[in-house]
Amino acid sequence: MGTMSDDTLGFYNTADLRDAARRRLPKGLFEFMDRGNDDEVAMRENRTALESIKLSPRVLIDVSVRSQEITLFGKTQKMPVIVAPTGSTGLAWYEGEIALARAAKAHGVPFTLALGSMTKLERVADEAGGNLWFQFYMWPDRKLSHQVIARARDAGFEALVFTVDTPVAPGREYNLRNGFTIPFRFTGRNVVDVLTHPRWLCGVWARYMLTTGTPRYQNFPPETQTRITALPMGRSTASNASITWDDVRELRKLWPHKLIVKGIQHPRDAVLAADCSADAVVLSNHGGRVLDAAPAPILTLPRVVDAVGKRLTVIVDSGFRRGTDVIKALALGANAVMLGRAPLHGTAAAEEAGALRALQIYRDEIDRVLALVGCCTIAELSREHVDMSGVRGGEILSHGCATA
Ligand SMILES: Cc1cc2nc3c(=O)[nH]c(=O)nc-3n(C[C@H](O)[C@H](O)[C@H](O)COP(=O)(O)O)c2cc1C
Repeated sequence: MGTMSDDTLGFYNTADLRDAARRRLPKGLFEFMDRGNDDEVAMRENRTALESIKLSPRVLIDVSVRSQEITLFGKTQKMPVIVAPTGSTGLAWYEGEIALARAAKAHGVPFTLALGSMTKLERVADEAGGNLWFQFYMWPDRKLSHQVIARARDAGFEALVFTVDTPVAPGREYNLRNGFTIPFRFTGRNVVDVLTHPRWLCGVWARYMLTTGTPRYQNFPPETQTRITALPMGRSTASNASITWDDVRELRKLWPHKLIVKGIQHPRDAVLAADCSADAVVLSNHGGRVLDAAPAPILTLPRVVDAVGKRLTVIVDSGFRRGTDVIKALALGANAVMLGRAPLHGTAAAEEAGALRALQIYRDEIDRVLALVGCCTIAELSREHVDMSGVRGGEILSHGCATA
């Protein structure tokens, strides 16, 4: 790392933010925030797929005046990205959700608050503001879910993100091994881990203990906060194996604003989401954290865009670490890209300044890559700027793409 006095804070890329997060957080917490599931094949595949796609630059085009603005749901936003929902962001930093939401607002992009936040949704709305989206998992008691959604609506959240890829809790053996739980509890297994990370112990844990008490899921109904969350993280996702498209249809009736279905992985499901009058889908394998045999969303993207691109907004995530990654997705027809771990790592590294830095890194890289491929705007990107010939099975995905 370089000097801390310049505005890079010594973080030159998203890997630097990840390294800083790893040093600051107890190991159990860092692994919870960073790892995948099972053998982490899906997580690696996300990167392999993105790296195997090449850009096909055009040259001798005047790219001296550039903009990376996009219009999403009729609103102009300054960057083609969205901060993805990441549960427990408030464990990365004290009230990290507020810090991250403020950074998103400063960069002119939407922030998605996860149901599994440590900070109450109303406080995020009051203290950060900006273009706020609310993510939730449907609880088995749907009435309770509908109540939380009504709170989000009343607090001014502009979009509802229904995550549908986790009907049962994913297999994450490392959480069990690390003794990682929410509410966070000191156990024989993690006490050394926490004591050897005093910045986190004093800066995050102690501050909660002095204010709201043991960090917990503050958006859960009070009566269930302890009961549901007392399970090890590996099993604590309040999963509901009975959700169906009927739930989407019901939400469509309940929710007056934009409705987004997150965790679509099959073009046919994207069509069903459109049939339910959803406004958008997030093509996602949850950053490789749920089904380890999941395909990389970037590879499914062209088929999803072909199937529903004219009917709804297509957002993609999972593994996007560089401006080149974002440009590839946009060129393949995505309307925007969600970023999960990188802004979270930024928050863990240096609170709001770290989150701002995370987004600034993408902003600078996107701007640079746009110029390097010969485009002044995101709208100018097309499949002709993408070369899928190096991708396994690329020939079936490469419709409309540049060929070598
Ligand atoms: C620590 C962590 C917590 C997450 N929590 C949620 C969540 O509560 N709800 C959800 O829909 N997705 C959740 N995700 C998935 C992200 O929204 C997003 O799909 C994923 O992180 C994108 O991949 P990336 O991290 O490679 O950018 C979480 C991801 C991480 C890393």
